[in-house]
Amino acid sequence: MWRVQVRLRLWDIKFRTSDALVVREPKRAAQQQGDVDAIRRESATSALQTRRVALPRGAVWRTLELRRSTMEVRSLRLLAATISAAVVVATLLPQVSGGAPAELRNSVDGQSAADSQGNLHVPKDYRSAYEYLGSWAIADEKGPGAKQIHMVYASPGTVAAYRANARFPDGTALVKEVYAAATSPMTTGTVSHAAKLTGWFVMVRDNHGHHAGNKLWGDGWGWSWFDVTNPSKTTSTDYKTDCRQCHGPAQATEWVYTKGYPVLER
Ligand code: HEC
Repeated sequence: MWRVQVRLRLWDIKFRTSDALVVREPKRAAQQQGDVDAIRRESATSALQTRRVALPRGAVWRTLELRRSTMEVRSLRLLAATISAAVVVATLLPQVSGGAPAELRNSVDGQSAADSQGNLHVPKDYRSAYEYLGSWAIADEKGPGAKQIHMVYASPGTVAAYRANARFPDGTALVKEVYAAATSPMTTGTVSHAAKLTGWFVMVRDNHGHHAGNKLWGDGWGWSWFDVTNPSKTTSTDYKTDCRQCHGPAQATEWVYTKGYPVLER
Protein backbone atom coordinates (compact mmCIF):
# COMPACT_ATOMS: atom_id res chain seq x y z
CA MET A 1 0.00 0.00 0.00
CA TRP A 2 1.29 3.44 -0.94
CA ARG A 3 1.65 6.10 1.71
CA VAL A 4 2.02 9.56 0.32
CA GLN A 5 1.98 12.74 2.34
CA VAL A 6 0.26 15.50 0.37
CA ARG A 7 0.22 18.95 1.82
CA LEU A 8 -2.37 21.37 0.55
CA ARG A 9 -1.96 24.85 1.86
CA LEU A 10 -4.89 26.83 0.67
CA TRP A 11 -6.68 29.96 1.58
CA ASP A 12 -10.43 30.27 1.72
CA ILE A 13 -11.52 30.60 -1.84
CA LYS A 14 -14.81 31.91 -3.01
CA PHE A 15 -15.76 32.30 -6.59
CA ARG A 16 -18.67 32.94 -8.81
CA THR A 17 -20.03 30.74 -11.53
CA SER A 18 -22.80 31.30 -13.98
CA ASP A 19 -24.39 27.97 -14.66
CA ALA A 20 -21.43 25.66 -14.81
CA LEU A 21 -18.00 25.08 -13.37
CA VAL A 22 -15.14 24.36 -15.70
CA VAL A 23 -12.96 21.73 -14.11
CA ARG A 24 -9.55 20.71 -15.39
CA GLU A 25 -8.34 17.38 -14.17
CA PRO A 26 -6.29 14.34 -15.14
CA LYS A 27 -8.01 11.97 -17.51
CA ARG A 28 -10.47 9.70 -15.78
CA ALA A 29 -8.83 6.52 -17.02
CA ALA A 30 -5.59 7.49 -15.31
CA GLN A 31 -7.45 8.36 -12.15
CA GLN A 32 -9.33 5.09 -12.08
CA GLN A 33 -6.29 2.98 -12.70
CA GLY A 34 -4.46 5.00 -10.08
CA ASP A 35 -1.63 5.40 -12.58
CA VAL A 36 0.46 7.92 -10.68
CA ASP A 37 3.03 8.34 -13.45
CA ALA A 38 0.31 9.05 -15.99
CA ILE A 39 -1.28 11.57 -13.66
CA ARG A 40 2.06 13.28 -13.07
CA ARG A 41 2.80 13.29 -16.79
CA GLU A 42 -0.59 14.77 -17.61
CA SER A 43 -0.37 17.35 -14.88
CA ALA A 44 3.13 18.36 -15.95
CA THR A 45 2.33 18.63 -19.64
CA SER A 46 -1.07 20.13 -18.88
CA ALA A 47 -2.60 17.32 -20.92
CA LEU A 48 -5.66 17.72 -18.81
CA GLN A 49 -9.21 17.19 -19.84
CA THR A 50 -11.72 19.97 -19.40
CA ARG A 51 -15.03 19.01 -17.90
CA ARG A 52 -18.08 21.25 -17.48
CA VAL A 53 -19.98 20.52 -14.31
CA ALA A 54 -23.51 21.83 -14.65
CA LEU A 55 -24.98 23.42 -11.52
CA PRO A 56 -28.65 23.12 -10.58
CA ARG A 57 -30.96 25.59 -12.32
CA GLY A 58 -31.22 28.88 -10.55
CA ALA A 59 -28.02 28.33 -8.63
CA VAL A 60 -26.27 31.36 -10.01
CA TRP A 61 -24.08 31.76 -6.97
CA ARG A 62 -21.90 29.06 -5.57
CA THR A 63 -19.34 29.36 -2.87
CA LEU A 64 -16.50 26.97 -2.53
CA GLU A 65 -14.62 27.14 0.72
CA LEU A 66 -11.37 25.28 0.97
CA ARG A 67 -9.65 25.49 4.28
CA ARG A 68 -5.98 25.15 4.97
CA SER A 69 -5.49 21.45 5.35
CA THR A 70 -2.96 18.70 5.52
CA MET A 71 -3.93 15.25 4.53
CA GLU A 72 -2.31 11.90 4.44
CA VAL A 73 -3.27 9.87 1.46
CA ARG A 74 -3.37 6.13 1.89
CA SER A 75 -4.57 4.87 -1.44
CA LEU A 76 -3.82 5.56 -5.04
CA ARG A 77 -7.40 6.44 -5.77
CA LEU A 78 -7.39 9.05 -3.01
CA LEU A 79 -4.11 10.41 -4.31
CA ALA A 80 -5.62 10.81 -7.76
CA ALA A 81 -8.63 12.60 -6.28
CA THR A 82 -6.36 14.86 -4.26
CA ILE A 83 -4.25 15.75 -7.26
CA SER A 84 -7.28 16.60 -9.32
CA ALA A 85 -8.66 18.73 -6.48
CA ALA A 86 -5.36 20.60 -6.34
CA VAL A 87 -5.44 21.08 -10.11
CA VAL A 88 -8.98 22.43 -9.91
CA VAL A 89 -7.88 24.90 -7.26
CA ALA A 90 -4.82 25.96 -9.25
CA THR A 91 -7.01 26.50 -12.29
CA LEU A 92 -9.50 28.58 -10.35
CA LEU A 93 -6.99 30.72 -8.46
CA PRO A 94 -6.32 33.23 -11.25
CA GLN A 95 -10.03 33.90 -11.51
CA VAL A 96 -10.37 34.90 -7.88
CA SER A 97 -7.29 37.03 -7.47
CA GLY A 98 -7.70 40.78 -7.76
CA GLY A 99 -10.80 42.90 -8.05
CA ALA A 100 -13.72 43.06 -5.71
CA PRO A 101 -14.36 40.33 -3.16
CA ALA A 102 -16.18 37.67 -5.15
CA GLU A 103 -19.19 37.69 -2.85
CA LEU A 104 -19.84 41.28 -3.67
CA ARG A 105 -20.05 40.65 -7.39
CA ASN A 106 -23.58 40.13 -6.46
CA SER A 107 -25.36 39.34 -9.66
CA VAL A 108 -25.14 38.88 -13.39
CA ASP A 109 -22.53 40.93 -15.23
CA GLY A 110 -23.31 44.60 -15.29
CA GLN A 111 -25.97 44.19 -12.63
CA SER A 112 -23.89 44.56 -9.50
CA ALA A 113 -25.26 46.77 -6.76
CA ALA A 114 -22.01 47.40 -4.85
CA ASP A 115 -18.44 48.21 -5.81
CA SER A 116 -15.35 46.90 -4.03
CA GLN A 117 -15.26 49.94 -1.73
CA GLY A 118 -18.78 49.16 -0.56
CA ASN A 119 -20.50 52.00 -2.40
CA LEU A 120 -23.97 50.92 -3.41
CA HIS A 121 -25.87 51.95 -6.50
CA VAL A 122 -29.06 50.96 -8.25
CA PRO A 123 -28.14 48.01 -10.48
CA LYS A 124 -28.74 48.60 -14.17
CA ASP A 125 -31.51 46.63 -15.83
CA TYR A 126 -32.73 45.15 -12.55
CA ARG A 127 -36.24 45.19 -13.98
CA SER A 128 -35.34 42.58 -16.57
CA ALA A 129 -32.40 40.80 -14.92
CA TYR A 130 -33.62 40.55 -11.32
CA GLU A 131 -36.34 38.39 -9.79
CA TYR A 132 -39.58 40.07 -8.74
CA LEU A 133 -40.39 39.43 -5.07
CA GLY A 134 -43.58 41.37 -4.41
CA SER A 135 -45.33 44.69 -3.83
CA TRP A 136 -46.64 46.86 -1.03
CA ALA A 137 -49.46 49.41 -1.15
CA ILE A 138 -49.35 52.20 1.44
CA ALA A 139 -52.88 53.41 2.18
CA ASP A 140 -53.63 57.07 1.60
CA GLU A 141 -55.10 58.40 4.84
CA LYS A 142 -56.83 61.21 3.00
CA GLY A 143 -59.02 59.10 0.74
CA PRO A 144 -59.53 55.72 -0.89
CA GLY A 145 -56.65 53.87 -2.46
CA ALA A 146 -52.90 53.92 -2.00
CA LYS A 147 -50.56 56.87 -1.79
CA GLN A 148 -47.47 54.80 -2.54
CA ILE A 149 -46.72 51.50 -4.20
CA HIS A 150 -43.44 49.67 -3.54
CA MET A 151 -42.12 46.93 -5.80
CA VAL A 152 -39.29 44.72 -4.63
CA TYR A 153 -36.74 42.87 -6.77
CA ALA A 154 -33.87 40.52 -5.85
CA SER A 155 -30.69 39.56 -7.68
CA PRO A 156 -30.77 36.37 -9.76
CA GLY A 157 -30.86 33.12 -7.77
CA THR A 158 -32.30 34.64 -4.60
CA VAL A 159 -35.67 32.90 -4.78
CA ALA A 160 -34.26 29.39 -5.25
CA ALA A 161 -31.62 29.90 -2.55
CA TYR A 162 -34.11 31.31 -0.06
CA ARG A 163 -36.57 28.50 -0.67
CA ALA A 164 -33.80 26.01 -0.01
CA ASN A 165 -32.25 27.57 3.12
CA ALA A 166 -34.62 30.28 4.37
CA ARG A 167 -31.62 32.61 4.25
CA PHE A 168 -30.44 35.30 1.86
CA PRO A 169 -27.14 34.18 0.34
CA ASP A 170 -24.06 36.33 0.56
CA GLY A 171 -24.14 38.98 -2.16
CA THR A 172 -27.93 39.06 -2.49
CA ALA A 173 -29.07 42.47 -3.70
CA LEU A 174 -32.57 43.75 -2.98
CA VAL A 175 -34.05 46.73 -4.79
CA LYS A 176 -37.25 48.39 -3.63
CA GLU A 177 -38.84 50.86 -6.04
CA VAL A 178 -40.94 53.59 -4.47
CA TYR A 179 -43.76 54.99 -6.60
CA ALA A 180 -46.21 57.76 -5.90
CA ALA A 181 -49.58 56.15 -6.64
CA ALA A 182 -52.62 57.56 -8.41
CA THR A 183 -56.15 56.29 -7.76
CA SER A 184 -59.05 56.34 -10.20
CA PRO A 185 -62.26 54.46 -10.98
CA MET A 186 -61.64 51.64 -13.39
CA THR A 187 -63.80 48.80 -14.65
CA THR A 188 -62.57 46.66 -11.72
CA GLY A 189 -63.41 49.27 -9.05
CA THR A 190 -61.44 52.04 -7.35
CA VAL A 191 -57.88 51.28 -8.42
CA SER A 192 -54.44 52.61 -7.46
CA HIS A 193 -51.54 52.25 -9.82
CA ALA A 194 -47.84 53.14 -9.81
CA ALA A 195 -47.77 56.63 -11.30
CA LYS A 196 -44.36 58.20 -10.64
CA LEU A 197 -41.08 56.65 -9.54
CA THR A 198 -39.51 58.66 -6.73
CA GLY A 199 -36.46 56.50 -5.90
CA TRP A 200 -35.02 53.20 -4.74
CA PHE A 201 -33.96 51.49 -1.53
CA VAL A 202 -31.09 49.05 -2.08
CA MET A 203 -29.74 46.40 0.30
CA VAL A 204 -26.76 44.09 -0.37
CA ARG A 205 -26.10 41.02 1.79
CA ASP A 206 -22.68 40.73 3.44
CA ASN A 207 -22.23 37.78 5.76
CA HIS A 208 -18.59 38.52 6.52
CA GLY A 209 -18.53 42.13 7.67
CA HIS A 210 -16.31 43.25 4.78
CA HIS A 211 -17.07 46.91 5.24
CA ALA A 212 -16.76 47.26 8.98
CA GLY A 213 -16.33 50.95 9.71
CA ASN A 214 -18.50 52.01 6.75
CA LYS A 215 -21.62 53.56 8.23
CA LEU A 216 -23.80 52.23 5.45
CA TRP A 217 -22.95 48.61 6.27
CA GLY A 218 -23.92 46.54 9.27
CA ASP A 219 -26.21 43.82 10.60
CA GLY A 220 -25.32 41.72 7.56
CA TRP A 221 -26.29 44.24 4.88
CA GLY A 222 -25.23 47.33 2.99
CA TRP A 223 -28.06 49.89 3.04
CA SER A 224 -28.78 52.95 0.86
CA TRP A 225 -31.52 55.18 -0.54
CA PHE A 226 -31.31 56.73 -4.01
CA ASP A 227 -33.36 59.66 -5.26
CA VAL A 228 -34.79 59.09 -8.73
CA THR A 229 -32.47 61.80 -10.05
CA ASN A 230 -29.28 59.93 -9.07
CA PRO A 231 -29.32 56.13 -9.07
CA SER A 232 -25.56 55.93 -8.63
CA LYS A 233 -25.06 58.15 -5.58
CA THR A 234 -26.81 57.63 -2.29
CA THR A 235 -28.04 60.38 -0.02
CA SER A 236 -27.96 58.02 3.00
CA THR A 237 -25.26 58.62 5.58
CA ASP A 238 -25.79 56.12 8.42
CA TYR A 239 -27.92 52.99 8.20
CA LYS A 240 -28.43 52.92 11.96
CA THR A 241 -30.44 56.14 11.83
CA ASP A 242 -31.62 56.01 8.19
CA CYS A 243 -32.85 52.41 8.04
CA ARG A 244 -32.33 50.04 10.94
CA GLN A 245 -34.92 51.22 13.42
CA CYS A 246 -37.69 50.89 10.87
CA HIS A 247 -36.53 47.39 9.94
CA GLY A 248 -36.45 46.23 13.58
CA PRO A 249 -39.76 44.34 13.34
CA ALA A 250 -38.16 42.19 10.59
CA GLN A 251 -34.95 41.42 12.49
CA ALA A 252 -35.83 37.74 12.87
CA THR A 253 -35.99 37.37 9.09
CA GLU A 254 -32.61 38.98 8.45
CA TRP A 255 -34.15 42.48 8.62
CA VAL A 256 -36.28 41.80 5.52
CA TYR A 257 -40.09 41.95 5.51
CA THR A 258 -40.40 38.51 3.96
CA LYS A 259 -44.11 38.18 4.67
CA GLY A 260 -44.74 40.43 1.66
CA TYR A 261 -43.03 38.02 -0.72
CA PRO A 262 -45.06 34.84 -1.22
CA VAL A 263 -42.62 33.71 -3.90
CA LEU A 264 -40.07 33.00 -1.13
CA GLU A 265 -42.32 30.46 0.54
CA ARG A 266 -41.42 26.84 0.07
C1 HEC B 1 -40.20 54.47 7.86
C2 HEC B 1 -39.64 53.15 8.09
C3 HEC B 1 -38.53 52.67 7.15
C4 HEC B 1 -37.34 53.28 6.86
C5 HEC B 1 -36.81 54.60 7.35
C6 HEC B 1 -36.63 52.37 5.97
N1 HEC B 1 -37.41 51.25 5.71
FE1 HEC B 1 -37.00 49.84 4.35
N2 HEC B 1 -38.85 49.05 4.62
C7 HEC B 1 -39.73 49.42 5.61
C8 HEC B 1 -40.93 48.60 5.53
C9 HEC B 1 -42.11 48.66 6.49
C10 HEC B 1 -40.74 47.75 4.43
C11 HEC B 1 -41.75 46.76 3.86
C12 HEC B 1 -43.08 47.43 3.59
C13 HEC B 1 -43.01 48.61 2.66
O1 HEC B 1 -42.25 48.62 1.67
O2 HEC B 1 -43.72 49.59 2.90
C14 HEC B 1 -39.43 48.04 3.90
C15 HEC B 1 -38.85 47.37 2.84
C16 HEC B 1 -37.57 47.57 2.39
C17 HEC B 1 -36.95 46.84 1.34
C18 HEC B 1 -37.52 45.65 0.61
C19 HEC B 1 -37.06 44.38 1.33
C20 HEC B 1 -37.70 44.20 2.67
O3 HEC B 1 -37.05 44.47 3.70
O4 HEC B 1 -38.88 43.79 2.72
C21 HEC B 1 -35.69 47.34 1.18
C22 HEC B 1 -34.66 46.90 0.16
C23 HEC B 1 -35.53 48.39 2.15
N3 HEC B 1 -36.70 48.52 2.86
C24 HEC B 1 -34.37 49.09 2.33
C25 HEC B 1 -34.25 50.16 3.20
C26 HEC B 1 -33.06 50.96 3.33
C27 HEC B 1 -31.76 50.71 2.59
C28 HEC B 1 -33.33 51.95 4.21
C29 HEC B 1 -32.46 53.09 4.66
C30 HEC B 1 -31.77 53.86 3.61
C31 HEC B 1 -34.71 51.76 4.63
N4 HEC B 1 -35.21 50.65 4.02
C32 HEC B 1 -35.37 52.62 5.48
C33 HEC B 1 -39.56 50.45 6.50
C34 HEC B 1 -38.56 51.38 6.44
